[in-house]
Amino acid sequence: MALNAQILPSLLAADMGHLADECVRAEKSGADGLHLDIMDGHFVPNLSMGPAIVAMARQTITLPFSVHLMVERPDQFADPFLKAGANLLLIHIEAKADAAEVLRRVKAAGKRAGIVLNPETKLDAIAPVLDLCDEVLFMTVWPGFGGQAFIPGPLKRIRALRDLRPELDISVDGGITLETARLCAEAGANVMIAGTSLYRATDMAADVAQMRADVNERLS
Ligand code: DX5
Ligand code: ZN
Repeated sequence: MALNAQILPSLLAADMGHLADECVRAEKSGADGLHLDIMDGHFVPNLSMGPAIVAMARQTITLPFSVHLMVERPDQFADPFLKAGANLLLIHIEAKADAAEVLRRVKAAGKRAGIVLNPETKLDAIAPVLDLCDEVLFMTVWPGFGGQAFIPGPLKRIRALRDLRPELDISVDGGITLETARLCAEAGANVMIAGTSLYRATDMAADVAQMRADVNERLS
C-alpha cells in the first residue's frame, strides 16, 4: 500500500473570533483533516482549547480530527477528547502517564492512537509503544506556541523510523511551510501539520494542493 500525503491545518493559528468559520475554511480548502492543539499550562507554558471547542468543530465539519494533547496527564484527558470527536488522539511520550495504557484505551474506543516526540527525544523512547501506534508525530518546534521556526534536528530520526516502518503514518508539526514540508517528505514524513503557513496563506486551498503534490512527489 502506497503512502499518501495528508495536509492538516492547525486550528491554533485560526482567527479565534471566527472559529467555526475557520473550521469550514480548512474543509473547503481540501484539507485531509484538522489538527487541534490542547495545552494545559503544565506540560507546556500555554493554554489553548478544551473539549468544548473540539465538540463545536465536530458539529461544524466532517473532516477527521487529529487531537494533540500537550498535557501532563493524558490519562486524565483522553476520554473527554475522544467523546468530543477526536479521530486520532496524539499523546506525548514525555508526559507523566503510562503511554501504553492510554494508547490501548484509545484503540479500544475504536479511534486511532499516536505518540509524539519533542525535538530532542530519541527514537528509543517510543520503542516500547510503537506497535500500539497508528501514527508517530515528530515535533519540529518545542510545543506550546504557533509561529515558531522549524527545527531540522528530528529529520534524521524521521528517516530512521521510515526505514523501519515503511507504512506507518509519520507526521510533523511546527514551522511547516511549503519549503520545510519538502524537507520532511524527503526524510519520509507523509502527514504535514501546518498552522501559521496555511491559515495566513493568501489562498489556503492553493497551498494545501501544492503541499500535497510536493509531498507525494517526494514519497514515491
Ligand atoms: C505547537 C502546536 C502546533 C502549532 C503549529 O505547539 O503543536 O500544532 O499549531 O503552528 P505553526 O505551524 O504555526 O508552527
Ligand atoms: Zn500540534
